Amino acid sequence: MYVCLCVGVTGQQVIDAVQAGAVTTRQVGERTGAGTVCGRCKNNIRALMAATAQQPQPLT
Ligand code: FES
Repeated sequence: MYVCLCVGVTGQQVIDAVQAGAVTTRQVGERTGAGTVCGRCKNNIRALMAATAQQPQPLT
């Protein structure tokens, strides 16, 4: 499902960016482009980032 319609970024791309180390919406934007045009999706990006951060990470 798309989170950012301006750039066509999916929720999975945001999750991947967070799991790769992005901790701010700016960093997610730098990695994916999400939130870099109109900014209306930033609340959804933040919610997705918070949900991703609460997910248990697999042991490596
Ligand atoms: Fe994401 Fe516009 S919907 S920048």
